[in-house]
Amino acid sequence: MSRYILSIETSCDETACAILSPNAIQSEVVYSQVGHAHFGGVVPEMAARDHQSRLPLMVKELLESSGVRREELCEIAYTHGPGLAGSLLVGHYYALGLASALNIPLRGIHHLEGHIMSAFITHGQGSWSERFLASCPAIVLIVSGGHTLFVEVKKGAYTLLGETRDDAVGEIFDKIARIMGLAYPGGAALSKLAAMGRPIYPLPRPMTERNDAEMSFSGLKTAARMLYERLNLKDSHLLNSELHHQTRCDFAASFEQAIIDTLMYKVRYLMKTTGIKNFVVGGGVGANRTLREALLVWCEKENIRCILPEPAYCGDNASMIGVAAWIRKDLQASMVPPAFRLHAELAW
Ligand code: KG4
Ligand code: ZN
Repeated sequence: MSRYILSIETSCDETACAILSPNAIQSEVVYSQVGHAHFGGVVPEMAARDHQSRLPLMVKELLESSGVRREELCEIAYTHGPGLAGSLLVGHYYALGLASALNIPLRGIHHLEGHIMSAFITHGQGSWSERFLASCPAIVLIVSGGHTLFVEVKKGAYTLLGETRDDAVGEIFDKIARIMGLAYPGGAALSKLAAMGRPIYPLPRPMTERNDAEMSFSGLKTAARMLYERLNLKDSHLLNSELHHQTRCDFAASFEQAIIDTLMYKVRYLMKTTGIKNFVVGGGVGANRTLREALLVWCEKENIRCILPEPAYCGDNASMIGVAAWIRKDLQASMVPPAFRLHAELAW
């Protein structure tokens, strides 16, 4: 009997594929492209070419290592958006070719739906859909390089509660990391420095005077940049001085704390006003230790179930796309298309 979904994720600079049964990951692989750091950000054309040259071999090796035969695949799932158009096209056409050759259905998954489902990879029991349903309704915070938003998830329906009006949290982590001389994507490296610092410098907590889920981070980014200049830290990463190092760590801690305080303000507001008892996180910044600790401590105090993906599943991966595909397959009749805006959805 065919009982595995092969999933593909190529929305940005991770080439990833996975094979999942209805309740377990059979095999998975993620390749993070390396050439972009030199340019300080993802170069779309390079990303698409890299996906194209790697994906076929990766899928072949994945099938071999999984022990799953092609005839045992019941569906091909892939990320249909949002993301970089060229990168998405590579995944789309590869998945289409594979599904046609095997004569099995093809399913496009919204990238953010994948991030939401990543938390269930290691939480709950039973099939993917049972784990998901056991956690509904939930408030989800997606914090990635391209998105920062809150979604209310009910069985089969998503409601966008609020989002950033400008920069995403991952994006400002990367931009501030860049001015600090840290390699792209610098979010994790900045956070490591922050762990050695004290949040002593004042920075704004944007839009916390508002009781809603709306956010804006570009002002905080500018304030951080000006603070960095005032502290005379420009080019100081080149200096080997203990004092400079400590000031850099204090700056990083102040910046990180401002982001986390802002997010926590919104989390507290939403959980209290909705009364929902499940809280889920998705996206690369979900791996941030300070954010995870703040969420776990607060949720425990409030008796809220805090469902965090394992750090390895916070960033882009194909298993989350496979989990989302299985959930859609199982709950087909009751699932509605996600209410997110699709920035680069492809027609197929
Ligand atoms: O979800 P993701 O892999 O890609 C998108 O869909 O955008 O998120 C990548 C983002 C990057 O901006 C990266 O710097 C950030 O997640 N990130 C972190 C940490 N780990 C990854 N930001 C802060 N602290 C971290 N530990
Ligand atoms: Zn992502």
